[in-house]
Amino acid sequence: MVTSSAPGKVYLFGEHAVVYGEPAVPCAIERRASVTATRRDDEALRVDAGDLTLDGFTVEYSGGTDGRPDVDVEQPLLEAAMGYVNEAVEQARDATGRPEAGFDVHIDSAIPLGAGLGSSAAVVVAAIDAATRELGVTLDSEEIADRAYQVEHAVQDGEASRADTFCSAMGGAVRVEGDDCRRLEAVPNLPFVIGYDGGSGDTGALVSGVRGLRAEYDFAADTVEAIGDVVRRGEDALAAADLDELGRLMDFNHGLLSALGVSSRSLDAMVWAARDADARGAKLTGAGGGGCIVALDDTDGTETALRYTPGCEDAFRAELDTEGVRVEE
Ligand code: MEV
Repeated sequence: MVTSSAPGKVYLFGEHAVVYGEPAVPCAIERRASVTATRRDDEALRVDAGDLTLDGFTVEYSGGTDGRPDVDVEQPLLEAAMGYVNEAVEQARDATGRPEAGFDVHIDSAIPLGAGLGSSAAVVVAAIDAATRELGVTLDSEEIADRAYQVEHAVQDGEASRADTFCSAMGGAVRVEGDDCRRLEAVPNLPFVIGYDGGSGDTGALVSGVRGLRAEYDFAADTVEAIGDVVRRGEDALAAADLDELGRLMDFNHGLLSALGVSSRSLDAMVWAARDADARGAKLTGAGGGGCIVALDDTDGTETALRYTPGCEDAFRAELDTEGVRVEE
């Protein structure tokens, strides 16, 4: 039996545009998904997911070998999680040359599903690490990142960048542009505050929505390119540890994402609450449509303001997690 964990992430800059080759800077946060893989005597895969949500609501889920539930589960997100785990186990079988290996897989995650904090990437990264180690093979973090990307690419019908999976496997702040992925060193302390509306967005639908706009309107394509410009300026601000400039650029990034139709009423309300509380900046994080915003604030103001914001279900501080995937003792 091996348990591995991997962090969730926020996007400081660049979600959606990264799908079209623009750079992005996601940052790992100290909220992890843990996956325990236990070798079975047969070839079956059984998955149970404990507490997959932020608010402690517990869902028991068991999936059969083909990923179809043995029991009726109304949570489509949990079914989606099953799809990711199936593909992750396939990657572990491939990496170890053990196509017949069966597993019991247990998932425990402190990252809300589909809320922009990289829950699926964290589960996939941790699952590949745990399942390969359980078969006696230790992959390096780059290979886990690459295999986890193959999983997201397959499950999301080709609509995925390397950003979420690379960030979760490596930890810290990373820069992703197409296939070029690297960790950013000497990153300043980033006082992240996260607001969560209790909901989630459909990443596939949101990504195809942006793809459609970009194909139809030149100005939407320009908006995607403008996000790339914001990211490049953001990298300079990060290197200069200029938090005020980072905040301004986050505000700008949110506006551009809104223009692309991926914000929502509750995300906008939380962004405005953070700005009213004098956060240095705020934006949605991840695919959007619902879920989380990230603000930069080193005071208690934003967290308190978010707690009083209608539509905000939870607000919390999140430290940058410099550690990526790791095996748990
Ligand atoms: C989703 O977390 C981030 C997107 O940019 C999609 C991706 O990069 O795969 C919307």
